[in-house]
Amino acid sequence: MKTTITTLQKMYQDGEKFAILTCYDALFATILENCGIDVLLVGDSLGNVIQGETTTLSVTLDNMIYHTRCVARGAEKAFIMADMPFGTSQLSPGQTFDNATKLLAAGAQMVKIEGGQIMAETIHFLTQRGIPVCAHIGLTPQSVHQLGGYRIQGNTDSAEKQLIEDAQILEQSGATFLLMEMIPATLAKQITDILTIPSIGIGAGRACSAQVLVLHDMLGLYQGKKAKFVKNFMANAGSIQEAVSDYVNAVKTNQFPASEHEFQ
Ligand code: KIV
Repeated sequence: MKTTITTLQKMYQDGEKFAILTCYDALFATILENCGIDVLLVGDSLGNVIQGETTTLSVTLDNMIYHTRCVARGAEKAFIMADMPFGTSQLSPGQTFDNATKLLAAGAQMVKIEGGQIMAETIHFLTQRGIPVCAHIGLTPQSVHQLGGYRIQGNTDSAEKQLIEDAQILEQSGATFLLMEMIPATLAKQITDILTIPSIGIGAGRACSAQVLVLHDMLGLYQGKKAKFVKNFMANAGSIQEAVSDYVNAVKTNQFPASEHEFQ
């Protein structure tokens, strides 16, 4: 049976963590859902891991539609979330709605939009018109030039206050989930405790209601130095399937992320 927003909300209410990985093609979609992945995120990280770019900024809506359609063909059960790429959600709520409809037509069940309270009006517009939205705060890779690099966010008193306020406003605007990237674990816990919607963490500590990693990272395929919040699940596994199943189990039993993967 297809996982829906209701399935995930019930898991949240029951205290069951959901395990998420990025996915960009049909074959991996089938493999990942067979290993118990609840949500497949068609991330604009495909700009990095598929297209070989150093940022996600050049990923187009057509790229996202193509990969969402590929993932949707391979996934029977897993919930599919797709990223709105850079430049497709910033201009106006109406234009964002128009762009998001194309991702839903390709098979996405939810779109993910980067940005704090500046995106509240857009999120309200979409959710009132039938498009569920995951808001994404903290390190927002599409703002890499504004942020001055891929670095931890929310580690000053004012930035912490700002993120708490953003989270609350985005929930009030109708966001279904809130993804937090690269923020201190204590702050992510505080936000998770305040919210009544599931939080998804990547580099945000173990208190989040769900965890996500980039598939290639957790398979140890990253180029260069491993990020602190990443665990290479292939290191002790004999197959990709075993590595993914270990990840699912580690998320659901709260063993991943461990303190070594958290920012303080
Ligand atoms: O595109 C992506 O992979 C993401 C994750 C970093 C959450 O947005």
